[in-house]
Amino acid sequence: MHHFQYRAGELHAEDVPVSRIAKAVGTPFYCYSTATLERHYGVFADALRGLDAHIHYAMKANSNVAVVRTLANLGAGADVVSEGELRLALAAGVPARRIVFSGVGKTRSELAFAIKAGILQINVESEPELFALNEVAGELGLVAPVSIRVNPDVDAGTHDKITTGRKENKFGIEWTRAHAVFRRAVDLPHVEALGVAVHIGSQLTDLQPFRDAFLRVRELVTMLRADGLGVRHVDVGGGLGVPYGDGSGPPPLPSEYAAVIRETLGGLGCRILLEPGRLIVGNAGILVTRVVYVKEGATRTFVIVDAAMNDLVRPAMYGALHDIAPVRESDVDARRHPVDVVGPVCESGDTFAQQISLPPVVGGDLLAIGTAGAYGAVMSSDYNARPLVPEVLVKGDAFAIVRRRPTYEEMLAREILPDWFDHD
Ligand code: LLP
Repeated sequence: MHHFQYRAGELHAEDVPVSRIAKAVGTPFYCYSTATLERHYGVFADALRGLDAHIHYAMKANSNVAVVRTLANLGAGADVVSEGELRLALAAGVPARRIVFSGVGKTRSELAFAIKAGILQINVESEPELFALNEVAGELGLVAPVSIRVNPDVDAGTHDKITTGRKENKFGIEWTRAHAVFRRAVDLPHVEALGVAVHIGSQLTDLQPFRDAFLRVRELVTMLRADGLGVRHVDVGGGLGVPYGDGSGPPPLPSEYAAVIRETLGGLGCRILLEPGRLIVGNAGILVTRVVYVKEGATRTFVIVDAAMNDLVRPAMYGALHDIAPVRESDVDARRHPVDVVGPVCESGDTFAQQISLPPVVGGDLLAIGTAGAYGAVMSSDYNARPLVPEVLVKGDAFAIVRRRPTYEEMLAREILPDWFDHD
């Protein structure tokens, strides 16, 4: 369920016609819906009721400060993967005590920043990182709160580029070493071992891999406790999928996912930390783009739009198919045609969809690319010297630019000519 619906033939974001925003900010732009963010967060939180469960929204999915503030106001914590995300989380008003820091390559300076900020937990992914963290905390005269991320060697059955829980993936501490590393953490003077963390991948559409991974975690917690080692936190990561336009069946419901957590980890008496990203923000965003030209190729019709792979890379990077629909609703009996929707970048990979059926469109029409709230703006770049697109947040009948489009002057101002060109 999301709040991008047609009213009187016009796509609206909540109570605002999308075309009105386009007029005000220009295209392309990302548009997020507050009501959808609140609804997704609410559904997820409700599903977990009765568990000692804490939601740490995965900022990597969408780190816009206004989006994160919306979630923080509902009680969300944050899962961050860099000092930059940690700073954004704090700027959005997420209390440090609700922030978890994940990632395989946190640098010493990032670790120091996180320890000084007083965050809830640092998920350590290797022994060298554990020792570095102990040293850094020691130098600061502080103790770092730690969970050990394990690699459960479970195949999440998702796209290869976003699967993280197989033993050949770079993530987590090998399942068989986890026990020894946790014991090591307990013995180190400047870390406090709180628990165990796991994250097996993203866009999962099947619950079985979660069940397998969580059972392994339960087994580990049980063994650690049998050895007299206290375990208070279990962090289950994120990963629950959302529906895209690829026709794959609907992903499991949050309530079904929560049932797996209850069944596997509910009885441990641990605080359960969750790091959902896509599920919360995916459907809460669209990318709005304008048709530049419609070109009849030798064998196909190309709808050339003003958004490109640098604005939304998921189709090019993962072969993802996002729904695409005209902002002005077409007549029910309009004849649909198979078209390719492509961007202006000089790569054939700059294609949003191939041979999808669209009603007739002409240059100047607006299109909405759906489910673009997660891993959209955050993965954008200014490749081809295209300015980053603005982000807009809607709330009821109000909308606001929450990250503006940089000007060409700002882009040029970043460039520096070394002084050896002075004599040109
Ligand atoms: N926790 C950790 C440690 C993660 O690595 C991730 C995602 C999450 C939580 C959130 O996962 P989610 O609930 O969003 O599935 N750019 C890719 C997705 C990369 C996900 C990386 N890790 C995409 O566009 O599909």
